[in-house]
Amino acid sequence: LLKLAAQPKNIAGVREAVAARARQLGADEGTVDDLKTAVSEACNNVVLHAYPDDAPERPLEVSLRQEKNGLQLAVRDQGQGIQPRSGRAKGLRMGLLLVGAISTCFVLRSGHGRGTELTLWVPLRGDLA
Ligand SMILES: Nc1ncnc2c1ncn2[C@@H]1O[C@H](COP(=O)(O)OP(=O)(O)O)[C@@H](O)[C@H]1O
Ligand SMILES: [Mg+2]
Repeated sequence: LLKLAAQPKNIAGVREAVAARARQLGADEGTVDDLKTAVSEACNNVVLHAYPDDAPERPLEVSLRQEKNGLQLAVRDQGQGIQPRSGRAKGLRMGLLLVGAISTCFVLRSGHGRGTELTLWVPLRGDLA
């Protein structure tokens, strides 16, 4: 479990830590690549969307758990939650589509003022998919 501040400079480190842990748990390179993509998208969303620009603290939590034939990645923040679309969208809105394409299943939980949690599952290896 990693706990750190949601800042752009921290994302590469989180991605590499998740990749290293996944390899340790027996993930093949395809799964490692998918997890790197997913963790980048999820953390970038926390950096970009979770907190107002002037937030004094920007907590970000990332965990990777071993399950029977797969891995569970969870990315959590304590931000404002998913807001209704504001017209001036900042991104391409591809992040969650990518997560959906990569994972066996994902769950996005968010509440106004209660933060957001993205949980997703991937098979440990291609031969278990
Ligand atoms: N952690 C988060 N906190 C608040 N809103 C979020 C969070 N993650 C995603 N969102 C919302 O979901 C939308 C879709 O995310 P995504 O598919 O990654 O597209 P993009 O980041 O390019 O806008 C975001 O535009 C944002 O409104
Ligand atoms: Mg995004």
